[in-house]
Amino acid sequence: MANEVFLKLEGIKKSFGGVHALRGVDLEIRKGEIHCLAGENGCGKSTLIKAISGVHDVDEGKIWIEGEQVEHLHPIDAINRGVQVIYQDFAIFPNLTVAENIALNGEVKDRTKLVSWKRIHQVAEAAMEQVGARMDPDMLLEQLPVAGKQMVAICRAIINDAKLLILDEPTTALTEPEVERLFQVIRSLKDKGIAIMIVNHKLDEIYKIADRLTILRNGSFVSTGLISEYDTQRFTRDLTGHEFESKKYVPENAGEEIFRVEHLTLPGKFEDVSFAINKGDVLGITGLLGSGRGELGEALFGVTPAQSGKIFLNGEEIRIKSIDDALNNRIGYVPEDRLTQGLFMDRSIEDNTVVSSIRNYFHGLKLNESEMEEATNRWIGELSIAAPSPKPPVRTLSGGNAQKVVIAKWLNTEPRLFILNGPTVGVDIGAKAEIHAILRGLAAQGIGIIIISDDLPELFTNCNKIVVMRQGKVGVITDNSVDNIEL
Ligand SMILES: Nc1ncnc2c1ncn2[C@@H]1O[C@H](COP(=O)(O)OP(=O)(O)O)[C@@H](O)[C@H]1O
Ligand SMILES: [Mg+2]
Repeated sequence: MANEVFLKLEGIKKSFGGVHALRGVDLEIRKGEIHCLAGENGCGKSTLIKAISGVHDVDEGKIWIEGEQVEHLHPIDAINRGVQVIYQDFAIFPNLTVAENIALNGEVKDRTKLVSWKRIHQVAEAAMEQVGARMDPDMLLEQLPVAGKQMVAICRAIINDAKLLILDEPTTALTEPEVERLFQVIRSLKDKGIAIMIVNHKLDEIYKIADRLTILRNGSFVSTGLISEYDTQRFTRDLTGHEFESKKYVPENAGEEIFRVEHLTLPGKFEDVSFAINKGDVLGITGLLGSGRGELGEALFGVTPAQSGKIFLNGEEIRIKSIDDALNNRIGYVPEDRLTQGLFMDRSIEDNTVVSSIRNYFHGLKLNESEMEEATNRWIGELSIAAPSPKPPVRTLSGGNAQKVVIAKWLNTEPRLFILNGPTVGVDIGAKAEIHAILRGLAAQGIGIIIISDDLPELFTNCNKIVVMRQGKVGVITDNSVDNIEL
């Protein structure tokens, strides 16, 4: 049964005006399998889903559902053949209850019958039971967290006789335990013989859940295969079209000390933290939420300074009691939430790049526009920021390119120590590898680099020293020769 094909696509093409969203995509989804569709932003994943669900009429290509070729698939045909899609916005009704969202549609389908609220409850309860979701059927949808709303959407798909359930980027807005719960539900649906297609581009999640994987790039089919046929290197190469260094970072030669903290303490947040960074080091700080990792980073930048302990930069003791102190000592900091703290989204790339070093561009009382533009152009080149000029607002950039602008802003201040909190959260895998390469390069130039992250593979690959925080204290300091650490 696991080998029977439910859906087959061949040579699917779809353009919007001049944009070739799909340039000939093949795909095969089997009954009872979990199939992951991966590809960078804008590569055509959502468009492909809309082709499968009949929302878009395709320009070219063939579609078979359960062995039968279907021409001009309409949304209602797709639904009748068992294709159910859960889009990123779920299409649910916030002012209806859980039970109504799951079962009302089926109840009112037959307009001759009276609506039975009892039956709605029964159907909804049965669906929740089948999916393994426990929710109060009388709760209003707007009161549920995202994960709850998603469960409701899955329940509704199941009572509509889903044979193929498609989920478009279902884990983006979920916490880790919620992702686990979702995956449990998905596995139980697979066991019932339902085919599942998940759009996802996080390799660690794909390994946890998928049987097979199909990769698209720029509207084209790149590869498909069993999950066991993909390691990180092949996945990254197929996704981006580039080879990336995935070797663990080892500094060329250990240099003199750049930065050191001794017994740093902020009561209630972190206690007795000591570590040192030498020239060439990329230091990682990790730990669970609440371990103090974020607070430590903020203390080093003077946001919420440490109360006691010592800090040395290039051999000299310094005081960091405010952000101004940090800036005066040429310490740069990329916050966890770059969208609200790191960038002025409506301002240009140029404005964002020079904002922290604006004093350098005053000649008397006048700003030297051409120098600002020149500096920005230099960073656009050096960091490969995908932008036509320094002038577009940062809002128009992808996550990875926006993050590179934050990095450009700090590099333009010529930092001696550069602290980055979650530098690649929400960044595409290609841009992620580029950012890592940039940070390694900066370390080699003698800038102290600290990466704060809960992405352990990121730290193991890029940091030659890792400080593990546990409940506010340094649990252990290790190098990247191990493959796992207890958080
Ligand atoms: N309705 C549309 N009109 C015009 N262009 C579109 C439309 N939908 C998608 N596109 C374009 O098609 C390409 C693929 O988009 P999409 O399928 O949403 O990518 P993904 O889901 O992989 O991020 C993008 O360049 C996008 O801008
Ligand atoms: Mg999409």
